[in-house]
Amino acid sequence: MVEAPSILLVDDSQDTLEVLSRNLQEKGYRVACATGVSQAVEMLRQEGYNLVITDYKMPKVSGLDLVRHVRENLPDTEVMMITGYATVEGAVEAVKAGAEEYLTKPFTDEELLTAVGRALEKLRLRRAQRAAPALGPAVQGLLGESEPMRQVFQAISRAASTTATVLICGESGTGKEMVARAIHYQSPRATAPFIPVNCGGIPETLFESEMFGHVKGAYTGAVESRAGFFHSADGGSILLDEVSETTPVMQVKLLRVLQDRQVYMLGSDRSVQVDVRIMAASNKDLQTLVKRGSFREDLFYRLNVISIEVPPLRRRGEDVLLLARYFLDKFSRELDRQAPVLSDGAVRALLEYSWPGNVRELENLMQRLVVMTDEKEIGVHLLPPAMRFCTSGDAFSPCTLAEVEAEHIRQVLALVAGNKTRAAEILGIDRKTLREKLKRYSNEKQPRK
Ligand SMILES: Nc1ncnc2c1ncn2[C@@H]1O[C@H](COP(=O)(O)OP(=O)(O)OP(=O)(O)O)[C@@H](O)[C@H]1O
Ligand SMILES: [Mg+2]
Repeated sequence: MVEAPSILLVDDSQDTLEVLSRNLQEKGYRVACATGVSQAVEMLRQEGYNLVITDYKMPKVSGLDLVRHVRENLPDTEVMMITGYATVEGAVEAVKAGAEEYLTKPFTDEELLTAVGRALEKLRLRRAQRAAPALGPAVQGLLGESEPMRQVFQAISRAASTTATVLICGESGTGKEMVARAIHYQSPRATAPFIPVNCGGIPETLFESEMFGHVKGAYTGAVESRAGFFHSADGGSILLDEVSETTPVMQVKLLRVLQDRQVYMLGSDRSVQVDVRIMAASNKDLQTLVKRGSFREDLFYRLNVISIEVPPLRRRGEDVLLLARYFLDKFSRELDRQAPVLSDGAVRALLEYSWPGNVRELENLMQRLVVMTDEKEIGVHLLPPAMRFCTSGDAFSPCTLAEVEAEHIRQVLALVAGNKTRAAEILGIDRKTLREKLKRYSNEKQPRK
């Protein structure tokens, strides 16, 4: 018999834990409870769970930290966060930290169970994707069959077998962070943490303390010692994301760790040895910044031991379609729908478009299409104008003006979901004329597809 999925509930309120666990147990889930993040982390260390459901606001450590811990260390566990108030920020933070789902209080039993079902389905898909090579040579969820991506996969494998520092460059949204994750999870360090740090998001004054930690009394308000990102990543890997955004002061501090692998906690003159694999990512060309004098040359060479260039989506040929279909499938499943297919015209438009936002732009577009339309086929008319105009549409075949008119009316109708009043407005004719035209077409022949 297949074992029921296991869920770890984390909430500081005993009452909430009881209610939630009763509901979930009734549906056949195996449930364990923790009243705080540290207890949860310990339980996760001892046993694997399929899903963690955590409260956001808890005394001591926030649920957000648990979300990060799970996402960074436990690829086989989904995580869902419950936020107390319906603030966009809470939800956005949860999703950014890697929560697959979030629920805002109050929620119904049904909402809870639906969200749990969705989260577990995502886990199933992720495992299936890892097990099935059918989707092409995917490395840790990175899809691609084009030559430039094959080279990236080779570089990932080579990098994973060493501990050398890696510099990952590429335009925004190309998958740099995914490449770093892939290197970490393919390396012997996979069971230790992967810690991505957004260097652009840390103010210079906090940089040292965030990165290297501080000892008690290091500055006013430092009431106790705290570890930094480098300590958290001990035994694992750290990704210095957006490394081009570091200031000269921050660069000096990083250079010091890269040179001697020693970390000085703020306020302490004794160094601590850390065993951390360092990776850095940038969407700016660091060499140009070095020439301009805004990035230290010595730091650049320390980082650039192995360099991986993640190609922009427009150089990946038919990978665009592979990814588009993968995302259509993924988002449709989430909504329990059949994935739509791409029309020939849409295929051409996707291939011709230049994708300035790369894979992230493609992913967002596919999600929007799945959410916004119920159509079984995605035609050119459903694509954003910038894409529609970069293609000649479906293959050109000489035809009559009446046919062109019929096709145009069909596309406008599709755009407004069949609303004839809106369609007539857009077409600049009255409803009666539109009705007559439609009647005539249906008597003559079906408009060209
Ligand atoms: N080859 C790929 N296969 C599947 N998904 C991908 C691939 N590349 C990127 N993605 C998805 O695209 C999105 C952007 O990827 P990621 O965050 O790694 O990009 P990035 O280069 O770090 O972007 P930025 O420069 O904006 O930080 C993510 O949702 C990621 O899951
Ligand atoms: Mg990134």
